[in-house]
Formats: sequence, structure tokens, C-alpha cells
Amino acid sequence: MNPTATPPTRPDRTPHEEVSMTATATPTARCDRSFFNAQAIQALDPFGLDDALADLPALNARADVPALTALLQHMTAQYKHLTLLDAESTHATMRDFGIVLGSLKRHGVEPLSVVPHLEPILLDLGGQHDMVPRDTVLHYTVWNPDGERRRLYTGDPQERELQDAVTNVFPHLSASLALSDSLADLDPRDVRFAPLAMHLARTSEVMVDTIDRVTQHVSPIFFAQTMRPYFEEIHVNGRAYLGPAAAQVPLWLIDITLWASDRSHPAYEHFLQESLQYSPPSWRAFYAAHSARPSLVTKVSALLASDAHQHDRNLLRSADALTALLRTLKVFRGRHLGIARRAYAEDVRLYEHGSGGAPIELLKTITQLTKENEAAVRARVGGRPGGHAPARGEVGSGA
Ligand code: HEM
Repeated sequence: MNPTATPPTRPDRTPHEEVSMTATATPTARCDRSFFNAQAIQALDPFGLDDALADLPALNARADVPALTALLQHMTAQYKHLTLLDAESTHATMRDFGIVLGSLKRHGVEPLSVVPHLEPILLDLGGQHDMVPRDTVLHYTVWNPDGERRRLYTGDPQERELQDAVTNVFPHLSASLALSDSLADLDPRDVRFAPLAMHLARTSEVMVDTIDRVTQHVSPIFFAQTMRPYFEEIHVNGRAYLGPAAAQVPLWLIDITLWASDRSHPAYEHFLQESLQYSPPSWRAFYAAHSARPSLVTKVSALLASDAHQHDRNLLRSADALTALLRTLKVFRGRHLGIARRAYAEDVRLYEHGSGGAPIELLKTITQLTKENEAAVRARVGGRPGGHAPARGEVGSGA
């Protein structure tokens, strides 16, 4: 899949939507609107299988491969009778196929080897939205209903905690796009830069709150030994596609404008290129628009290094705000690395690599890069007092 592909035109908008969106929204915001019509997607039960899908945890607990296969065959046969008139119903359909795909794979069965007729259907469902031909983390979390209708692999409350964690951060990451877009176009000496960057820092704090909650409520052993096997890759049309795990959470949406466009590392760049395909087309378009531009850290550092600008008060405020943002990301990554290390410790893990296909080493590299960029801006400011509050949870973060 081409990460920079133009988002397809959605045939399902009403004339009213079309008019109001073209009048007010950027292409990015327009596309995100359909992706974040989450309640409508959650409400749908396209196969009428709410009850059968509620039994999945029981089928998985007894590794009932014949029943899982029969369920997937039934859904595949029913597909031609579905009325998929809009984007919401195709996302809900992919979500419901997805939870059964991951279940079968967890028990060692390549799903399309037992239900080959499903392959063209998955290709069609993914292709309609220029997305991968299987479920993504959006299907498994943001588009998954709450309460009794929640699609789950296990009956364990810790699985819900993990899903809720991801659901919680997605709206903030999506909202960050507009802030990053504006920041990328502003001169760091512009009086608006610092307050916008502080908004982005505050928006990012959800990552810290969320990982703290996960650390409190999800045991690394549960993740490593119960959940991780459900996120194994499946093969569609000769290609491997990863399961819908939190590693697909696009924190890179913030990194890319902030520092990663020109201060990255080959390992992170490689991970990012792989991860892009699991994002909606609008986010890939955001990546394409920003990945070749100088990062905010580079722009601010260059201005601070110049005698002509280094005392500019707006610039100093902008640098302080970027430092606060980088600190927040550093705190998240430090704590996230802590739980990941425990889940992938030798005596706990079942797999050497994360569900996103990367080793723990990658997380150390990204955490180190985040720290280095924070230190780079801080060093340029030269310890001048900025007067901004520390990032959430920074005190004693251990990051
Ligand atoms: C028990 C819980 C978790 C464990 C053990 C874990 C582990 C990992 C591992 C090993 C990676 C490396 C990539 C890969 O998987 O191949 C990763 C990446 C990532 N995970 Fe998690 N994770 C957990 C929960 C979460 C949660 C709740 C979030 C966010 C809400 C999250 C966000 C991320 C992000 C954004 C990345 C990409 C790397 C980065 O940007 O720093 N993870 N995770």
C-alpha cells in the first residue's frame, strides 16, 4: 500500500455534509470526521451476531477451533446478504470479522487457510477505505461497542482496560493534528507559537495518565501470556498483517512535526514506515505533508543559535513550550518502557518481538531520542527561566 496515496472519495456523504465540510474543513479534518464517527460504528451489529460474538471468550478459553471456524464460515457466507451502504457499516463488518480472525490465529490456525473465500472480502473491505485488509487497532478499540456488546478475545477485565486506554488517547492524537499543522506553519518568534505548543503539551498529557492507569490495572504477565498471542500477524493475499495492538497508536503524529522529520533514527524510521499502513489515509497524508519539512526542534534550535534572535522573548517562550511537550512525551515513554520491559522479560515473555513487530530495543531508542531532543532545546535556552509548569507527572517519573 502506498502510504502517501490520495484518500478515496467517500460515496456515502449526504449533500448537506459535503457542502458544510468543504466550506469549513481541511482535507485532513474532513477525513477524520468519518473515522471518528465512532458511536455510529459501535452501534452497528452488521451480522446480527452480538450474542454469538459475546461467546468468543468462552470459545477461546477452551480453544474451540471447530466452533471458531464455523463462525467465520457463517459470517463469510452471510457477507453477500449484508447491506453495506456507508463507511460506518463496512468498518463494523471488518471489526467483527477481525475479532474472529485474531481468535483463530491465537490457536495456531491461519484463518484464510480454513476460510479461503474470505480473502477477496477482506481485500474489498480494506480497499474501500484505502486501509489494510484486516482489522486495525481502531476497529478493536475506538469502534468497538462498550458494555455487554464489547467484542473481546478474553473475559478478563484487564483486556477492557487495555482497550479503554487506547480508546481514550485516540481523540487527543487526532486533535493534535490541527495543532501540529498550525505550529509547522508558524515562525517560532510568532506570539501565537508558545500558547499553541502548550496546548499540544496539555493534549499529550493524556498519554501519561493512560499509561499510569494501565500500569495500575494490567499486569505485564497478563499482557505477555494472555493478550499478546491474539495480536499475531495473519496472511492475506500473500502478505503478513499485524494484529490490532496498541503499538499501532500513532504517537508519531506528534513526533513527526516536533522532531522526527529530520532528527530520527533508522530503527524508528523503519518502524514508522511499517506502522503507517495501519493508519487512516488522512494520517498518512499528514505524514507525507510533514515528513520532509524541518522539525520544530530544528527551527527553534537554529533561531536560538543565532545572535540576532536568541533573546527574542517569544522565541524563548516557544522553546519553553516545546520543552514541556517533549518532557511529557519522555515521561510517557519512560513509563511505557517500564511496563514493556516487564512484559518482555525473559522469564515472562512468549515472544521476543512486540505485537508491532519491533523489539524492546526500539522503545529504548525512541525514548532516548525524545530525551535528546528535549535536552537539545533546553541547552539552547541555556537555563533561562521560562516559568512554565513541569510536564504532568514529571516529578519522580523515573523517565
Ligand atoms: C501492557 C501494556 C503494554 C505493553 C507490554 C506494550 C509494549 C509495547 C512494545 C513492546 C512496543 C514496541 C513495538 C512493538 O510492539 O512491536 C510498543 C509500542 C508502542 N506502544 Fe505499547 N505497550 C503496552 C501498552 C500501551 C498503551 C496502553 C499505549 C497507549 C495508549 C501504548 C502505546 C504505544 C506506542 C505509541 C508505541 C510505538 C512506540 C512509541 O511511539 O513510543 N502501549 N508497546
